[in-house]
Amino acid sequence: MLTAEKNDVLCRTGANTPMGRLMRRYWLPVCLGSDLVAGGAPKRVRLLGEDLVAYRSPDGSIGLIEEACPHRGVSLALARNEECGLRCLYHGWVMNGDGQVVETPAEPEGSRMKERVRFSSYPLRESGVFVFACMGPRELAPPPLDFEFADLPASHVLVMRSVEECNWAQCIEGVLDSAHSNYLHSDGIKPKGGLALTEEADLKLAQFARPSNDGAPRLEVEPQPYGFRYAALRRPLKDPDVNTYVRITLFVAPVYAIFPAPKGWASMQMFVPIDDDRTMFYYVLWKRDAPIDDETRERYLIQHGMKVGVDMDENFRKFGNRDNNWLQDRELMQSGRSFSGIPGINTEDFAVQESMGRIVDRTREHLGASDLAVIHFRRTMIDAAERLARDGANPVGLASPADYRKLASGEGMAPIGEDWRRLFPTELA
Ligand code: FES
Ligand SMILES: [Fe+2]
Repeated sequence: MLTAEKNDVLCRTGANTPMGRLMRRYWLPVCLGSDLVAGGAPKRVRLLGEDLVAYRSPDGSIGLIEEACPHRGVSLALARNEECGLRCLYHGWVMNGDGQVVETPAEPEGSRMKERVRFSSYPLRESGVFVFACMGPRELAPPPLDFEFADLPASHVLVMRSVEECNWAQCIEGVLDSAHSNYLHSDGIKPKGGLALTEEADLKLAQFARPSNDGAPRLEVEPQPYGFRYAALRRPLKDPDVNTYVRITLFVAPVYAIFPAPKGWASMQMFVPIDDDRTMFYYVLWKRDAPIDDETRERYLIQHGMKVGVDMDENFRKFGNRDNNWLQDRELMQSGRSFSGIPGINTEDFAVQESMGRIVDRTREHLGASDLAVIHFRRTMIDAAERLARDGANPVGLASPADYRKLASGEGMAPIGEDWRRLFPTELA
């Protein structure tokens, strides 16, 4: 459990909160590069409780500025996207990505008013298919953040996204909680003897087969410069007296998790605070050596319940929500064909996480041994936020530059008595 005060420290990300100041020291995903068309419509983005627009100028450069026109507040999502910046429809003011008003055509000739006007603008950077922003002081922006997929063409990368109607911390706590997969996801993740998942050839099977039916994993945490990694240790179906089945997940501060994927693939999830009540969830999968064909993309979207038009609207707002009990099918449950009654692995996650309320009351929970990584996550982030507020300490992961392209999760068998920390490297070869 947490005190109400600590829960606030963890969950609140406004500009004047400890976690908000911490979050603003990192590069965070804003949208995909493909969302921004050169000279096209500015895209409305809400990030850390701030209403912004992202756009791509006719020359291809990208910008992120406050949505409200600094003149009288008209939305710049309506603005004309011109060479010199975004031109507000109301009186023609032009704002650029450096936070400058460059034209105020309705003012008298020679007016110097525009020199005094300030509005928020943030540096952007494209990394692979993503656009990242750093919303803190420009001079403190960390080195560029590139994950492994940054070097791949868009054809090799699959991004699924949706809006979660709850706080970022309870979303990411789902991926730091290996034990729930045995219960919540028991429709989709099946025990399968012998094979380690990464040896499976068939993607569909590989995604969902696990060589263990042990529903009470032991968790072990190892601190890392970027955050921490943890192993979920389970008795395997085959040779349980010889081996332990190890599954390693990384928490990369502040909002990222990297976990095992089938052979030749890698995957991660991102949990970006829209505000304190909503989270932009990105599930990124990439294939290292080949493009992902259309049929595979389609299958993934359907299996995970992440298809626009089927599971959510074009703004990534899900059709299953609190009002309809996340479309839970009681008949399917009663017939014995489904444990959860909720189709799609991610949909199951959204349902349980949102069901806790917008911000879960952590004063009332009862944490057990299976919650070890969740506890470690909270400690890591609360401690980093409080130390930054207290003495300006370098946030976790930013003390020394690291190559995030090399971060590796892993899974497989470890002979009993061997330390998984030695068997599974912290970096890709
Ligand atoms: S409100 Fe934007 S120019 Fe007047
Ligand atoms: Fe889950």
